[in-house]
Amino acid sequence: MKISVIGTGYVGLIQAVGLASFGFDVTGIDIDESKVKMLNNGVCPLYEDGLEKLLKKHVGNNLKFTTSYEETIDSDVIFLCVGTPQDKEGNTDLKYIFSAVEMLKKHFQSQKWLVIKSTVPIGTNRLLKERLTGYDIEIISNPEFLKEGVALKEFLNPERIVLGFDENDSSSKEILEKIYKNFKEKNIPFILTNYETSEMIKYASNAFLATKISFINELSKLADKTNADIKTVAYSMGLDDRIGKKFLNAGIGYGGSCFPKDVKSLIKQFEYNGVVPKIITATNSVNENQIKWFFGKIKNYYGNINGKTFAILGLAFKPDTDDLRESAGIKLIDLLLCEGAIIKGYDYIKQARENACNIYKSNASKPFHGSNFYVLDNLYDTVSNVDGIIITVEDNKLNYEDWSNIFNLASEKIIFDGKNILHKEKVEKFGFEYFGVGLK
Ligand code: UGA
Repeated sequence: MKISVIGTGYVGLIQAVGLASFGFDVTGIDIDESKVKMLNNGVCPLYEDGLEKLLKKHVGNNLKFTTSYEETIDSDVIFLCVGTPQDKEGNTDLKYIFSAVEMLKKHFQSQKWLVIKSTVPIGTNRLLKERLTGYDIEIISNPEFLKEGVALKEFLNPERIVLGFDENDSSSKEILEKIYKNFKEKNIPFILTNYETSEMIKYASNAFLATKISFINELSKLADKTNADIKTVAYSMGLDDRIGKKFLNAGIGYGGSCFPKDVKSLIKQFEYNGVVPKIITATNSVNENQIKWFFGKIKNYYGNINGKTFAILGLAFKPDTDDLRESAGIKLIDLLLCEGAIIKGYDYIKQARENACNIYKSNASKPFHGSNFYVLDNLYDTVSNVDGIIITVEDNKLNYEDWSNIFNLASEKIIFDGKNILHKEKVEKFGFEYFGVGLK
């Protein structure tokens, strides 16, 4: 079976390399020529644990990359993994989906299966089916649930496979089960349903997880005022199986390319259908306020932050990724720069540091760039001579750093932990003044 994967971002590249590792003949297609060149040379344009190694193993053997849609002619199955960004109002912008489908249409010659992995609003798969009336093609909805940073591991061991079909489609189930045979053999649950249910499962999952985070973040503000300890609250809540302990870590809010955009898109989908979304609207607004609230805590402490120097530990939106999209760390940096602070930024992931340099140097739409923002390649240089250390990523590696040395290097011995990741008692023992999110 020949497979094409359109789009080589975080979703498409994992899909292409992952399917190649199952032994399929895979062609990855992207409009970005430089990316295609890098990939064909075995170089991964994004950071994801283990991905480059697997790419190198398969590229040139059963995996290749191209910019030409013509190469999809002899593919049996095409996975569509292009981005679905949000527009100015928060709706999902489907322009990349539609342009990819238009390009593909030119090369449909034999029967094909088009699998939509991109996150698309409820109703999109049916709309695509209508647009492709007259072509010998079946559309299947197959949302992805991978988390950046552990995406390859999760691709190989998914928690579920969700497939949405058209009611009159009798051929797709067999084809998809063939592709995902490995998962069937591992008894991974398959959910076979209609388009709309499949599309909603994706939004419901992301919005629910985002709501858990906003719920605990809202409580953390009350904890801050009342001497309650949000970490102990979350831990104790999580011991109840019905609640579960995951995604209850209070902090400076969720970021990334998925939660913020998908929550906003879901709000719009409610509105479009004339239903008022109360919980999800609150999830979004709690999240948007959380970073401002934390910034307020920092400002209150210093009074005036103009000319103060801060070390920001964490540039990407979470650990083990180079992805800066909607990163709470970057939002905080912008707020601090706006008030005249000087920022020394660090991230454990080299590519995240490089991406941060690119944002501040080359993005003219940012209010500040260059002069007051420095990216350093070493954590200890980052914390030297600063007026405060601000943690913006939940990376446990931070607990293994030499905090006694960091104490000596920093001018002011103050830590604002926006992710409650440090062991408070430990750093306080070294003499640091420590402020977390909703901690006693
Ligand atoms: C998320 C979902 O978890 C995946 O299942 C989904 O496939 C993906 O979106 C997607 O739609 O493509 P991801 O964006 O990679 O994955 O990141 P998460 O690990 O879910 O974290 C999202 C944000 O929530 C991060 O900023 C993280 O720091 C924050 N977070 C997470 C918290 O603030 N508290 C927590 O307890 C957990």
